[in-house]
Amino acid sequence: MYRVLITGQSGQIGQSITDRIQHQGWDVLFTDIDTLDIANAKQVEAVFKTFKPDVVINAAGYTDVDRAEHDAVAAESVNAYGPYLLAIQCHSIGALLIHFSTEYIFNGRSHCRYVETDTPSPLNVYGRTKLQGEQYIKAYLSHYIIIRTSWVFSEYAQNFVTTMLYLNRSKAPICIVNDQFGCPTYAGDLANLVVDIAKDNQAETGRYQLGDYNFCSDGGDRDRDRDRDSGVSWFDFACAIFEELDKYQPGEQGRNLTAVTSEEYASIATRPKNGILNCHKISPIFRPSDWRRKLRHVIEITMA
Ligand SMILES: NC(=O)c1ccc[n+]([C@@H]2O[C@H](COP(=O)([O-])OP(=O)(O)OC[C@H]3O[C@@H](n4cnc5c(N)ncnc54)[C@H](OP(=O)(O)O)[C@@H]3O)[C@@H](O)[C@H]2O)c1
Repeated sequence: MYRVLITGQSGQIGQSITDRIQHQGWDVLFTDIDTLDIANAKQVEAVFKTFKPDVVINAAGYTDVDRAEHDAVAAESVNAYGPYLLAIQCHSIGALLIHFSTEYIFNGRSHCRYVETDTPSPLNVYGRTKLQGEQYIKAYLSHYIIIRTSWVFSEYAQNFVTTMLYLNRSKAPICIVNDQFGCPTYAGDLANLVVDIAKDNQAETGRYQLGDYNFCSDGGDRDRDRDRDSGVSWFDFACAIFEELDKYQPGEQGRNLTAVTSEEYASIATRPKNGILNCHKISPIFRPSDWRRKLRHVIEITMA
């Protein structure tokens, strides 16, 4: 039977994959940090020895961007050393590694949307450690697919959407950065994508090339009229959240949103101003859904 190992199962992408991978007829081993710490060489080796996966989906990561600035060793251990260990084990048994990376590997100074071949130059510890993880995978393994994505939201865990809904309860003013741009991505789209890649690998249909892919959710008709992959600012994203919330519960929209600059907001980690990923490479193979429609879905689930 086709064997799939999932790491970081209790994170938002991990849980979204769990929802969508169950009925494929595969032998799936779900692991989280308590059952498989990807930065623990002995544990990683033992799981590979006993389970012998055909494909590994690494949804584990150190994702607290601000905390990483003061906790670089821990971030590096999960985001760089963990992928290194997975890569050498995948290499030893010929397994495919599917790994998630981020637009934060770029410095955001480009005036264009980033393509897969652009040169990375991270501004913060999180981005640097994610880039190191990519580099280890590429150095020790050829049978990999790295999916670079951005601004992931879901009905699970803590993310920008659930944070906005939480903050809105207090009705206190909310300051949102309006000069960083990116593409919101529904975690369910990422989950459907990795299931599709695993199917392709099993059937050996070769629809996906090995290597890097950018992937973000679609802007729907709003962006189709302009250019696909047009991004939004965090402030735009917050306004969209409250517009959708108002449709679900009229009168509940955030009345106290204030647009601020990155300098005014003064977060611990510096973030790229332009994090918009060009998804033209993956578009002919896999279409994402409209993030605004998925936002509505997440709000309905979260507010129910
Ligand atoms: N969220 C985004 O906007 C975004 C954007 C681009 C790329 N990505 C990438 O996508 C991946 C998943 O992100 P996510 O949004 O699902 O993050 P998440 O919700 O924070 O999930 C990450 C999961 O990894 C677990 N983990 C941490 N250290 C681990 C270790 N040593 N071994 C095994 N598991 C460990 C975490 O457990 P604990 O909670 O117990 O620490 C958590 O369950 C990450 O690689 C991230 O860099 C995310």
